[in-house]
Amino acid sequence: MKSADYSRRAEVLKPFMAMDILERAQQLEREGRSIIHLSVGEPDFPTPGTIKESAVKALSEDKTHYTHSLGTLELRQAIADHYLKRYRVKIDPGQILVTSGTSPALLLACAALLNQDDKVLISDPGYACYSNFISYCGGIPQPIKVDKESGFQFDPKIVKKSITPQTRAILINSPANPTGNLLEKDRMRELAGLGVTILSDEIYHGLVYKGDEHSILEFTDNAFVFNGFSKFYAMTGWRLGYLIAPPRYMRTLQTLQQSFMISASHFGQVAALTALTSAEVAKDLEKMRRIYDERRRFTLKRVREIGLEVAVEPTGAFYIFANAGVFTRNSYDFAFEILEKAGVGVTPGIDFGENGEGFIRFSYANSLENIAEAMNRLERFLQGIPQNCLFTQSLR
Ligand SMILES: Cc1ncc(COP(=O)(O)O)c(C=O)c1O
Repeated sequence: MKSADYSRRAEVLKPFMAMDILERAQQLEREGRSIIHLSVGEPDFPTPGTIKESAVKALSEDKTHYTHSLGTLELRQAIADHYLKRYRVKIDPGQILVTSGTSPALLLACAALLNQDDKVLISDPGYACYSNFISYCGGIPQPIKVDKESGFQFDPKIVKKSITPQTRAILINSPANPTGNLLEKDRMRELAGLGVTILSDEIYHGLVYKGDEHSILEFTDNAFVFNGFSKFYAMTGWRLGYLIAPPRYMRTLQTLQQSFMISASHFGQVAALTALTSAEVAKDLEKMRRIYDERRRFTLKRVREIGLEVAVEPTGAFYIFANAGVFTRNSYDFAFEILEKAGVGVTPGIDFGENGEGFIRFSYANSLENIAEAMNRLERFLQGIPQNCLFTQSLR
């Protein structure tokens, strides 16, 4: 497609390199190769049975219509109750917009908030899609380096120095993708005190193995919160998320939703209500969390043993962001080498920003068995020992 064929808006989008790896991995699998996927950012667990049953029941009861554009009142009330119980913050259901995943919530918030050339401070490395949401809505993503010295999270002093009259918002993400690190409570409070609107992506809440998770709403009302059911509830394919916003933005957000999405799926919202309120589901979630933690500890140990540096222990989400700088300065090519030669899918650090170059991201949303095998393959690859069947062809 010639550049003239598509809009200037689309031209600003950054390709999602992780998908290149995944698509190549799938092609290799079709050719009969054994590939272990440690690149994918989604739970390997199926959705808890009680949630699925409630969706089936909802379908049989014909919960198949449009709902209120903000979402069903029952679900919004349950989300408000969840935030009250977990973080002791009081939210009115009228401040909640249920969306088809967290991603649309990010898009609608950026659409409602950003004027042309407004800047949004984002962490580098950070979730690959943030810059696309911001740029597509006319804003300018302004990356701020985070590194091992800052615990791979924002240092409020550095953030403060980066604020200019053009700064419209600061986007935080804790636990974070790709680093799995948590933003400490005091830092959150400091960031909230800078007087700039905070966009807080809380999608990995619940997946915390050490320390406490906090919602930005504990520290300020001048915030937009993004959350959803994809990660903690193992519901990526259901496409269900939500946005909590200051009341004055709700009418605009509602208009955007009514125009572009209409509503999230009806039976999906019934299932999401079950996800938030069922004691049975809570038990399943805790079981999954413990398994993730076991995998986290194992993967971290093995990643370090095979010679990659993880300077700050990741304590949330399901990612380990490892410095492969002793092996490569080109994480994109390195990730392809690993895929082709070791049969392991990992995500190149450059996908998450310039400061992620030289790193690779492992997702431990895979079985311990598979992770163990992947680490053995990777170890042999890094030691330069050919792996008979896996090295049969050079594919690039
Ligand atoms: C930090 C972060 N935010 C948002 C999303 C998107 O979530 P959803 O599936 O709810 O759209 C992801 C998905 O990987 C993510 O890692």
